[in-house]
Amino acid sequence: MNYFFITGSSQGLGLSLTKLLLKDNNNFVYGFSRNNDFSHQNYQHTTLDLGDLNKVKTFQFPVLSNTDSIVLINNAGIVGDVNYVGKVNNDEIIKSYSINLIAPSILTNNFIASYTSSNSDKLILNISSGAGRSAIDGWNVYCATKAGLDMFSQVLKEEALINGSNLNILSLAPGIIDTGMQETIRTSSKEGFSNIERFIEYKENGDLAQPEDTATIVARFIFEKGLQQNVICSVRDVSE
Ligand SMILES: NC(=O)c1ccc[n+]([C@@H]2O[C@H](COP(=O)([O-])OP(=O)(O)OC[C@H]3O[C@@H](n4cnc5c(N)ncnc54)[C@H](OP(=O)(O)O)[C@@H]3O)[C@@H](O)[C@H]2O)c1
Repeated sequence: MNYFFITGSSQGLGLSLTKLLLKDNNNFVYGFSRNNDFSHQNYQHTTLDLGDLNKVKTFQFPVLSNTDSIVLINNAGIVGDVNYVGKVNNDEIIKSYSINLIAPSILTNNFIASYTSSNSDKLILNISSGAGRSAIDGWNVYCATKAGLDMFSQVLKEEALINGSNLNILSLAPGIIDTGMQETIRTSSKEGFSNIERFIEYKENGDLAQPEDTATIVARFIFEKGLQQNVICSVRDVSE
């Protein structure tokens, strides 16, 4: 059995990935989010607010048996308060770092500690963003959290190589997807985000990928070893 732990499984990319993986009876998904109305015989949901770090800290990964592979997908993320520094809500800064960077770091730490003795293949797939790789005005904290996730992933890979562990790490930028996150971005103000019109046009011109299509490419990164050579990667690395 392949076991997947997916944060942000209630909607968007996380839900599409969950549904895609569950088409195969050999896959079992543990989903995490604040809301959930999805059910499946091979799906178990945990209600977890990733902004509540005390709850994240105490989450215990289950003991697993008959494992072929164990995969942690840190997918949940928020764009947060889109505004120039000096005008950003401080509570939103704390929330964004908590959900986008601190919670994935804690979950990864506990995941590695929990399954260190397992001989099965292990993969940590962090859902990053192009925004972690180039500066976008108004997205200061979001860009910083995704850049942090990229670097965290690279250090993790170094440690896995030194330890000779059967653990791989990817930090994958998923491209622009037609999800709730893009809806939130389109409600930003021009003063807080100079590129707002471009993002409205992405939607109007049909440039946003459907989450089901992005999930199909993300799944290739999970299952195709040939796509797992570089920690820092993008769905755009795969020719369609
Ligand atoms: N959409 C894009 O264009 C785009 C581009 C680049 C990168 N990404 C990245 O892709 C990933 C998925 O984003 P998406 O577009 O699918 O966004 P989405 O549709 O807004 O979904 C976000 C998911 O994160 C969960 N989440 C948010 N706050 C949470 C919290 N406090 N605790 C637990 N879960 C929480 C949500 O669940 P609940 O609300 O039920 O808690 C939801 O399942 C994110 O990491 C995002 O940064 C997206």
